[in-house]
Amino acid sequence: MEAILALHGIFQDEKTMGKTVDITSLCMKKVLVIGGGGREHAIVDAVSRSPQVGKIYCAPGNAGISAQAECVAIKDTDVEALKAFALENAIDLTVVGPEVALAAGVVDAFKAAGLRIFGPSKAAATIEASKDFAKQLMAKYNIPTAAFETFEDYYAALEYVKKGSFPVVLKYDGLAAGKGVVIPETLEEAEETLKDMLLDDKFGKGKVVVEEFLTGPEFSFMCFVDGKEVYPMTLSQDHKRAYEGDKGPNTGGMGAYSPVPLITDEDMDFSLEKVMKPTAAAMVAEGCPFTGVLYGGLMKTPHGPKVIEFNCRFGDPETEVVLPRLATDIYDIFSAVADHTPMPQIEWKKEVTMGFVMASKGYPGDYEKGYEIMLPESLSDVAIYHMGTSLKDGKYYTSGGRVLMVVGFGADLQEAHDKALAAVESIGCENLFYRRDIGWRVL
Ligand code: AMP
Ligand code: GLY
Repeated sequence: MEAILALHGIFQDEKTMGKTVDITSLCMKKVLVIGGGGREHAIVDAVSRSPQVGKIYCAPGNAGISAQAECVAIKDTDVEALKAFALENAIDLTVVGPEVALAAGVVDAFKAAGLRIFGPSKAAATIEASKDFAKQLMAKYNIPTAAFETFEDYYAALEYVKKGSFPVVLKYDGLAAGKGVVIPETLEEAEETLKDMLLDDKFGKGKVVVEEFLTGPEFSFMCFVDGKEVYPMTLSQDHKRAYEGDKGPNTGGMGAYSPVPLITDEDMDFSLEKVMKPTAAAMVAEGCPFTGVLYGGLMKTPHGPKVIEFNCRFGDPETEVVLPRLATDIYDIFSAVADHTPMPQIEWKKEVTMGFVMASKGYPGDYEKGYEIMLPESLSDVAIYHMGTSLKDGKYYTSGGRVLMVVGFGADLQEAHDKALAAVESIGCENLFYRRDIGWRVL
C-alpha cells in the first residue's frame, strides 16, 4: 500500500499525524514573473496552467495579477533586489516581461548568480533598445526592411528629410514605450519632431533613424529563440493608433487578435526563413546570441514582408491574445530556452482570440488615475487581463495609461470580437475609452 501511495507521491508519516501529504506539491516549481502589465498577467495566467508549477510570484505585478500570483513590491528594473528575492525564495525559473528590465541587465545578473531565467542578455536586448543597432544589423545581413539613414545632428537630419518624400518616418533611437515613432506628413511637422528629438532631447539624448514610409497591413510575429534555433508562435495583429480608423497618435497598442487570416502560409514561411531565422543567426554571428522571445513587427508590403521593428520580449497586447491559445505547457517551453535543451512540439488551440484595450482618457498623452472600475461578476469565453489597475478595500481603480485588455474567445474572429465587445460594454468606469473597430481588417 505504502509503495502505491509513494508512487503517486502521497505518503503518511508520524510528523503529519496521519494527514495525507502530497509530495509532488513539494517538488512543484516556483516561478517569478518580472513586470506588472497585461502582458505579465497573460504570462502568469499561462504559467498557472502548467501542472509543474506550484507557486507564482510577480514583481511588481498588479491588482489583477494578485488573484493568480503573489505580488512582490520590487520594481522591474531593480536588478539587485530581484536577484536577492529569487535567491532567498529558491525560484526555479524567472520570466522577464518588460524591455526596461532586460535593458537593465536582469538576465546577465541572474545568470551570473546561477539562477535560471528566460529572456535575452542586455547585449541581445539592444535589438529593441537601439533602433539604429537593429537597422544596421538588418542592412548587414540583408534582412528586408525600410531604407534608412541615422542622424545625431539636427541640421543634417533636416537636410536629408528635405530631399526626401512625405510622409517620412522618424524614430528616436532608444526605448520610448512605443511613443518614439512619429510619421510627419509635412516638412513643418518633421522639423518640429526633429527639434524635439535632437535639439530639445525630449526623449533623452539620442540619435534619430529617418526611414522610408512603407504601406501594408502589419502583423506581429513572436518566436521563441535559443541562439540559432527559432520556434514560431501563432501570429497576431496589434492596433497601434489611439483612435478608430487608425487615427491619432501611436500607442503601445489598443487591441489585438490571433491568428491573422490575411497573412498567408507563404508570407509566414518567408517571414520565418528570410527574417526571423537570419536575424537569430546574425545575433549569434555578432557575438550576442538571443535567448527569449524575439518579436518581429512586420509589414506585408507590396514587395513582401518587411521588418518595421524588432522587440526583445513578448508584445503587449499581443501576448494577451496569443498565450491563451497555447496548448503546450509553457514551463517546458521556457525551460527549453533557458537550459538550451530540445524544445517540445509547440501546439496551438483552434479557438481564436480578439482583445480590446480600455485606456485612460488622454492616453497616450497625460491622463488621470484613480477612477473606480466596476467589473462584471462573471463572464463566459472572456478573459480580462489587467494592464494598469490597483486594488483598495476590495475595489479596482485605474492606475495606468492602458488599464484593461478584454479578450474574447470564439470559433471565429467575429465571435471572439462580439464576446469581447459585449464584455467591454459591461465594464463600468467613467474615465476609460477604447476602439470599437479592433479587427476591422478581417471582419
Ligand atoms: P515602431 O515602434 O518602429 O514599431 O513604429 C510604430 C509604428 O509606426 C509601427 O507599428 C507602424 O505602424 C509605424 N511605422 C514604423 N515604421 C514605419 C515605416 N517604415 N513605414 C510605415 N509605417 C511605419
Ligand atoms: N504591441 C507592440 C509592442 O509590444 O511593442
